[in-house]
Amino acid sequence: MPNRGWMTFVVGLGSALALGWVAFPRLQYRTIEQPLQFSHKVHTSEAVGMTCEDCHSLGDDGRFTGLPSMATCEPCHTEPQGQTAEEKRFVDEYVAKGREIEWLVYARQPENVYFSHAPHVGLAGIACARCHGPHGGTDRLRPYQENRLSSYSRDIWGPSPTRLRRAEWQGMKMTDCSSCHDAHGVRQSCLTCHK
Ligand code: HEC
Ligand code: HEC
Ligand code: HEC
Ligand code: HEC
Ligand code: HEC
Repeated sequence: MPNRGWMTFVVGLGSALALGWVAFPRLQYRTIEQPLQFSHKVHTSEAVGMTCEDCHSLGDDGRFTGLPSMATCEPCHTEPQGQTAEEKRFVDEYVAKGREIEWLVYARQPENVYFSHAPHVGLAGIACARCHGPHGGTDRLRPYQENRLSSYSRDIWGPSPTRLRRAEWQGMKMTDCSSCHDAHGVRQSCLTCHK
């Protein structure tokens, strides 16, 4: 039978670890709401009938449009399309004033990383969902989470503090990029991704 001092130590250590496990990831990130709610599901539904390429496309010049500008939204939203409060706010605060929306990009990489969609989407034909998961089918925007120390998006590390049992699109750290490159036989040096 172990003595009491030892038991106290084990219980104390266990609680400290449990607290750190639960609390640390929460303290580590700051939560910021997106400036507007946007539903991919509504816009790609049969009723509206838009495709991904209507808002995000790879041009003939190899440039990826990335986030759509207000010019993409205006043709429909100068006239209200429905009755939701969010659409009214969108029309009053952005469309009518000609203001662009400052979306927070979940996948945003640090500035010293060079990434281009062209080789991935164009040459290699990799599906959006391989790197972005189900985002293109979502109905609501989850809050953006920013690491308080590095100011990186949480999506670089991924949602799991341990990185165990995560889907392949959850997390885009250096090793996540380079292991896919290795699997595809892409020749890489530090300067491939850091210019
Ligand atoms: C009506 C225009 C529109 C259409 C159509 C559209 N998107 Fe988007 N997309 C947006 C806007 C606006 C954002 C910025 C807000 C957000 O994060 O959803 C965005 C953001 C994204 C992001 C960025 C996520 C990040 O890391 O921040 C991905 C990935 C994406 N869309 C994928 C898709 C896919 C896949 C489709 C087709 C199934 C699609 N989109 C169709 C407008 C559109
Ligand atoms: C082809 C027409 C069309 C285009 C282009 C379009 N929308 Fe919409 N949008 C709609 C329709 C239709 C609805 C649904 C209205 C309803 O039934 O409430 C809608 C709903 C919305 C809503 C409110 C519903 C919600 O919560 O998502 C927002 C906000 C919105 N759109 C933003 C945008 C933005 C931002 C863009 C440009 C990136 C855009 N829309 C481009 C047709 C369009
Ligand atoms: C190989 C992985 C990968 C694939 C495949 C991919 N993306 Fe991305 N995407 C990223 C990364 C990484 C970023 C962040 C780039 C940065 O911060 O420089 C990003 C950023 C974005 C953004 C934010 C705006 C921007 O350009 O930075 C949008 C929108 C987006 N992707 C949409 C898409 C869509 C739509 C597809 C499919 C046609 C797609 N992506 C395919 C990895 C990928
Ligand atoms: C799902 C697999 C996959 C992931 C994840 C991925 N890549 Fe790639 N990447 C490729 C493939 C395949 C190519 C080669 C495309 C071709 O040339 O046919 C490539 C090519 C590139 C190139 C061009 C290389 C050259 O010599 O022109 C750069 C730069 C690059 N990737 C950066 C990144 C970065 C940065 C990340 C992570 C943020 C990343 N990639 C994540 C598969 C991936
Ligand atoms: C396939 C793309 C790729 C290659 C090749 C690559 N890196 Fe990175 N590197 C990244 C990405 C993406 C990040 C940011 C995400 C992260 O921190 O893992 C990063 C981050 C870093 C950081 C900052 C670490 C941090 O946590 O902020 C350093 C330092 C670095 N890389 C050095 C190197 C060196 C040295 C090499 C060559 C031996 C190299 N990288 C090759 C993609 C790459």
